[in-house]
Amino acid sequence: MPEALWQIDALVAAAGGQADARPSDKSVSVSGISIDTRTLGTGDLFVALKDQRDGHEFVSAAFEKGAAAALVSVKYQRQDGDGLLIRVDDVLLALERLGAASRARLSAGARVIAVTGSAGKTTTKEMLRVALEAVAPAHVHASIKSFNNHWGVPLTLARMPAQTRFAVFEIGMNHPGEITPLTKLVKPHVALVTTVEAAHLAAFSSIEDIARAKAEIFQGLSVGGLAVLNRDNAYYGILREAALAMPGVEIVSFGSGQVPDGEGAGSVSLRSAVPERDAGGTQICARFDTRATASDADVAFAIGANGQHMVLNALGVAAVLRAVGVDVASALRVLAGLGPPTGRGTREAIAVDGGTILLIDESYNANPASMAAALRAMSALPRSLYPRRIAVVGDMLELGDEAARLHAGLAAAVMSANIDLVFAAGPNMRHLYTLLSPERQGAWAETSSGLEAALNESLAAGDAVMIKGSNGSRMAPLVDLVRGLGTRAA
Ligand SMILES: Nc1ncnc2c1ncn2[C@@H]1O[C@H](COP(=O)(O)OP(=O)(O)O)[C@@H](O)[C@H]1O
Ligand SMILES: [Mg+2]
Repeated sequence: MPEALWQIDALVAAAGGQADARPSDKSVSVSGISIDTRTLGTGDLFVALKDQRDGHEFVSAAFEKGAAAALVSVKYQRQDGDGLLIRVDDVLLALERLGAASRARLSAGARVIAVTGSAGKTTTKEMLRVALEAVAPAHVHASIKSFNNHWGVPLTLARMPAQTRFAVFEIGMNHPGEITPLTKLVKPHVALVTTVEAAHLAAFSSIEDIARAKAEIFQGLSVGGLAVLNRDNAYYGILREAALAMPGVEIVSFGSGQVPDGEGAGSVSLRSAVPERDAGGTQICARFDTRATASDADVAFAIGANGQHMVLNALGVAAVLRAVGVDVASALRVLAGLGPPTGRGTREAIAVDGGTILLIDESYNANPASMAAALRAMSALPRSLYPRRIAVVGDMLELGDEAARLHAGLAAAVMSANIDLVFAAGPNMRHLYTLLSPERQGAWAETSSGLEAALNESLAAGDAVMIKGSNGSRMAPLVDLVRGLGTRAA
């Protein structure tokens, strides 16, 4: 039997609802919370949220799959076969109340961490989850996937077991004002901003405004809370100011340069980051600023990911681990075995005639921050193993009026990483493609499928191929194409 997540009585009270039970309904607790009948487990509470579809259409299916109860609107009409219904005015508001109750029942010693940023939220959240699980097995709770929005955050809270010692939340936003209510629900002890760059510019008039919107995450910190900031980011100053405006909030930072005066002990600086020879991961040495004792402590560890952006994520993780009081070295040790989440820089060696192609799958998504980071990360690829660096890039979407400038602006990253050949798809990427010298131009096409023939023709053993674009640019099929080249091997 899975442990009970919520007793029904407590659940009904926390959700502010009314139990509608038939005499045959015997549920006394729920073991989990589900919003999707495809993944619902026996004994779960089914929450009838409205997103693409209205969850109320699936209540009966949920009970067929063994749901212990369903959280539904007062307006929902009971169907034959429905079990215990918990009726509420508004399902999303009830889920928020349940989330707040979940946060409130954590023990005083528990530590809650929230992560936001223009890129790297999921990567950082996963690093924290894995590192904390190494030192507190079975007592860590974290968002699944990128559950970071107005329903993902309360759902993650509501799913949090009462005995959780460390909780890690991803918080995202597309618009100003979106983070404030979410961080006030999460009430983090530690809030980390990975980076601030152009993304979703369509909803903002400037990157400064994006920085201020990210800084909303500090609104949820209480006295004694900690803001963890990226010193290498151009908007560090705006974030710092916003954090300092919160009473009793302290700041630590991470970055490649020195720790400035006036920051609390525990800030992290990079001493060295050395890519492993097979391009599988990175060896990092970081230094914690200890101020009080004047004996700065170095910590050496490895991550299974590559690029300066991943190194900085890891430094942010180190700062958070120290802040929540765990054995930092033990927690960081497990990151050696942790690659990036799927499609965020995952590396695969594809065996082809005459050798291998290194496939770097970045197809999960793209914005100017992550695109530049992925291009720059190619600079560390050993030429001895991979003589040719190839980038296959698709349009970055949702950039509003700035789209042309931000795509053209990637030329600097292509040059600095010495990328040999660029294949580009989409009208925005044309702005980059036409800036490149002819020998760097692989091919341009209106859509990603238009690049297939040229890639088939060009790719060969010894190539390192990085594939990236916004989800809507459909770059994932090109990743499959490169994988498919492997079957050509004798
Ligand atoms: N600190 C960072 N700066 C820039 N890009 C990053 C950073 N961390 C990760 N990325 C890249 O951003 C993309 C999205 O990563 P992810 O962790 O899913 O971010 P998010 O959850 O914020 O969308 C991936 O391509 C990843 O490699
Ligand atoms: Mg995410």
